[in-house]
Amino acid sequence: MTKPFASEYPVLRPKDRIISALDVATAAEAREIIGELGSEVGAFKIGSQLFTAAGPALVREFTDAGLRIFLDLKFHDIPNTVANAAVEAARLGVWMLNVHTLGGSEMMKRTVDAVRLACEKEKIARPLVIGVTILTSSTDAVLGEIGIDSGIEEQVAKLARLAADCGLDGVVASPHEIKTIKEAVTKPEFLIVTPGIRLQSATKDDQKRVKTFTEAIDDGADFVVIGRPIIQAKDRSEALKQIIGSTHK
Ligand code: C5P
Repeated sequence: MTKPFASEYPVLRPKDRIISALDVATAAEAREIIGELGSEVGAFKIGSQLFTAAGPALVREFTDAGLRIFLDLKFHDIPNTVANAAVEAARLGVWMLNVHTLGGSEMMKRTVDAVRLACEKEKIARPLVIGVTILTSSTDAVLGEIGIDSGIEEQVAKLARLAADCGLDGVVASPHEIKTIKEAVTKPEFLIVTPGIRLQSATKDDQKRVKTFTEAIDDGADFVVIGRPIIQAKDRSEALKQIIGSTHK
């Protein structure tokens, strides 16, 4: 119960490593995407937009249906609030949730402890608790604006080490930082989840640090989060096939 799915990771097929972002405004659109891709991806992600529009009932509907849900609400608040929010997410049956590593060590440790304790007590599967390092839409200039002068690579390495020391299961980071994280954190079970995946030829949208699916997996990403390249495609299954391409991992 306390190590959900961990033993499966090394043998995951490429499609199982894909988390499709349900970045849509309505439950109906989310259900439509799940209807099209349900068995073709490993998990679905519910972020701020859909959660704000459709609420926890939709999360529960999907977890009850047996889907793996990554609740991407990037909690960042005082330790007590984040720990309690994460416990509520665990009670919704989510597979993965995330917090901002910029919230600091006390926030992360209390969250991990509270989730573990609640799951043991209530006999529910413990969700993976993942830390957001630096958003993939950020650049050194954006970090400079908010008073962080150390540069993305150095900052991501520092935050990943902190997350690992606090007992988090892994981090979210751009595909460009996978190697840096692997050097910073040597625990093999520490997961790397990467958004910012694009087809070679496609638009980057607002993402600044992108790579293809194959590059990210070859570099060592455990899971990739893909939003617009799939959900905005006319034929989503076809877009997914193109993204997966010929990777052998
Ligand atoms: O459409 P696109 O593929 O860029 O979507 C990426 C998804 O990953 C979005 O839902 C975004 O909120 C999420 N995400 C991200 N960067 C992070 C964490 C999550 O882009 N650091």
